[in-house]
Amino acid sequence: MREKISMDAGWKFHLGDIVSIRNRWAWGKSGSWNQGPESRSFDDAAWREVDLPHDFLIETIPVPYHEKEFDGDNVIPAMEDVNNIHTTAGSFQKEVGWYRKHFFVPASDKGRKIYFVFDGIYRDSAAYLNEFFIGSERSGYKKIVYDITDFINYGGDNLISVKADARQAEGWFYEGGGIYRHAYLLKVAPAHIADTFVWCEVDLAKKSAVVNVRPELENCDAATLVTTVFSPDGAVVGEAEQRSVDGTALFRFAMDNVKLWDTAHPHLYRAATTLYVGGEAVDELSTRFGIRDIRFDADRGFLLNGIQTKLKGVCCHQNHGGLGTALPDEVYRFRIKRLQDMGCNAYRTSHYPPTPELLDACDEMGMLVMDETRLLSSAREDLEQLECLVKRDRNHPCVILYSIGNEEAQSQTTPQGTLIAGTMIRHIKRLDPHTPVTMALLMWDLKNRLPIRDVHAVSGISTQLDVAGFNYQHVMWGPHHEEFPHQPMVCTEQGTFKSTRGCYRTDAANCHLSILDKTVDSYMKGAEQWQVCRPDWMSGLFLWTGFDYYGEPTPYAWPAISSQFGTMDLCGYPKDFYYYYKAWWSDEDVLHIFPHWNWNAGDVKDIYVFSNCDEVELYVGGRSLGKKAMERDSYLIWEQVAYEPGILSGVGYKNGVQVAEECIRTTGAPAAVRLSVDYREHDIAMLRAEIVDENGLVVPDGGQPLTFETDSGKILGTANGDPSDHMPPNGPVRRAFHGLAQAVVKAGNGARVTVAAEGLAGSSVLL
Ligand code: GAL
Repeated sequence: MREKISMDAGWKFHLGDIVSIRNRWAWGKSGSWNQGPESRSFDDAAWREVDLPHDFLIETIPVPYHEKEFDGDNVIPAMEDVNNIHTTAGSFQKEVGWYRKHFFVPASDKGRKIYFVFDGIYRDSAAYLNEFFIGSERSGYKKIVYDITDFINYGGDNLISVKADARQAEGWFYEGGGIYRHAYLLKVAPAHIADTFVWCEVDLAKKSAVVNVRPELENCDAATLVTTVFSPDGAVVGEAEQRSVDGTALFRFAMDNVKLWDTAHPHLYRAATTLYVGGEAVDELSTRFGIRDIRFDADRGFLLNGIQTKLKGVCCHQNHGGLGTALPDEVYRFRIKRLQDMGCNAYRTSHYPPTPELLDACDEMGMLVMDETRLLSSAREDLEQLECLVKRDRNHPCVILYSIGNEEAQSQTTPQGTLIAGTMIRHIKRLDPHTPVTMALLMWDLKNRLPIRDVHAVSGISTQLDVAGFNYQHVMWGPHHEEFPHQPMVCTEQGTFKSTRGCYRTDAANCHLSILDKTVDSYMKGAEQWQVCRPDWMSGLFLWTGFDYYGEPTPYAWPAISSQFGTMDLCGYPKDFYYYYKAWWSDEDVLHIFPHWNWNAGDVKDIYVFSNCDEVELYVGGRSLGKKAMERDSYLIWEQVAYEPGILSGVGYKNGVQVAEECIRTTGAPAAVRLSVDYREHDIAMLRAEIVDENGLVVPDGGQPLTFETDSGKILGTANGDPSDHMPPNGPVRRAFHGLAQAVVKAGNGARVTVAAEGLAGSSVLL
């Protein structure tokens, strides 16, 4: 039977390239004579020990760069800075890294097929096993499967060496470097099940479904297959036996009273297929799936199990404060939980295939996914990447859309673009005819730097898509819908509303942007951008972005190293706009008042309220500032309120009944740092550090340097959401920013984590 063995632990790592004979002679010979890190005799005693996932880029120090005007309204780095520093990557130093790991393979494994699998290495990676070259991969996002059967030292020690060259960019965002996803060994019988495709035909009226299970065999044409289907509670709900023909078979299970997968009830079934050769069970592959019906309708938008479901989505890059791209699975789950708390039900994996554990989490937590490939391209290696994505992800019930590209302004209006899209769509449909295909089109003429005002300009691609996807330019959605009334539509990207968490006074030199800054073009645009998604024919939107991310520093370049588009900061701490979406996306009663209430005597401030209450009344020091009625999808402002120290409070009403209240107080001087567990799962804890006054109120401008320590376990990273913070992301010292900081800790039960700050009372938590 198959074995999957994690290869995450116990690697040695070296930052920087090591040039060897092999490097000079390229691949003149396979195996032997090497003196470099791929050779057995190479001395790696001085190398660091690391576990996967590991991002070496985040361990480098951000470097300043110079900017240059490009074509009038774009800023690009000067040429001398292009080589090693990619400003778009957040100014971390792009480097080469080498990894080595020893592992034992027993003699009894001889005769099996053995694969070394990497879920992703950023990028231009090459791998050697026992001095033999085993393969290379350019892409930083593709799953890499090396068949190492022939290179293994059976019954002895094996050495795998991996070079990752992160110097080239694939995208215009932070991409990390190294083996930043999981790695594992897969051991199977020579005749085995290579893959299984599961899809369901659902009869919503009868609450029944036909579950199709199609295993695909490797090294075996005709054999006996037995498939068992397990319900979400583990009961056997179907079992059948078949002879395979030409290496495959199709099982069809008719099932009544099925438990449908949806966002509130993510019920997961399992199909386990056993392969028998000569009467003996040689392999079993278990596939998780969900039974759900998805449909995009030209008039009604997205229907999940027949129910009209507006997509309230976000786009996300795969990095987190202090961790870069090396996210433990638990951190993905923390992030999804945070998004769901905001009322978000959909996640776009912009702009590349995500780690498989993200999709597992979305399956389990009920988050819908738009799964995007890196490029609109039908070049061989890009089609392979697309194929890999579809075959890897097609059984996930969370995946409701594939996306074949993002803003391919160079090709989307060309005859070539039309042909490329067609080839990609046909390729997808051969592998998975059931999941709709979209693309993030941009109504923008790159050459002339003008908006495109004719929907036919992109119709070569848009009309081939199951769902036409548009980024921005919402004035063109209506015309497209009128011109192509039978085509479903989705807003694949919208937002780019920028702000710094907790900041109410713009400080451009430090790259801090106030949400209240009316001089910024995107001031309060987040509201308008949701309002335009109201028509039923618009399936919903994906906001740019759920979280701030390293790289693409916007609206400020250096010294900023991260973007500021997020509804949450790099740590997943909500910014004010988070509450606008929570108000209109979630079912909770929301009343959020900002800014803080710590001003100077005599100051006059506009007070903003994000809420879904029908009416809101504000009070200063108990005196009413008046009651205001809220319009749908909107927000309220009380202008020119005179500040006085004390309490600013609000009460929210729905149908005349009080449902919510909120109160913010003037705080005193910082007195202590308070540590608490924001999220904990397995051995990962996300710790929140708050600067508080003597009454325990979080001090809005608390910015003391904090030192985190743990008596066992490891601090994986610390962050604070400040876009221009250059302290080493995975170091234990972090300045608080607007009262908050975060530490991500890997530690078991019983570990104690402490936080200290000079002049303040420290605190600790016991995990
Ligand atoms: C979009 C693009 C995103 C991001 C964003 C920033 O056009 O798709 O990746 O760059 O702009 O505004």
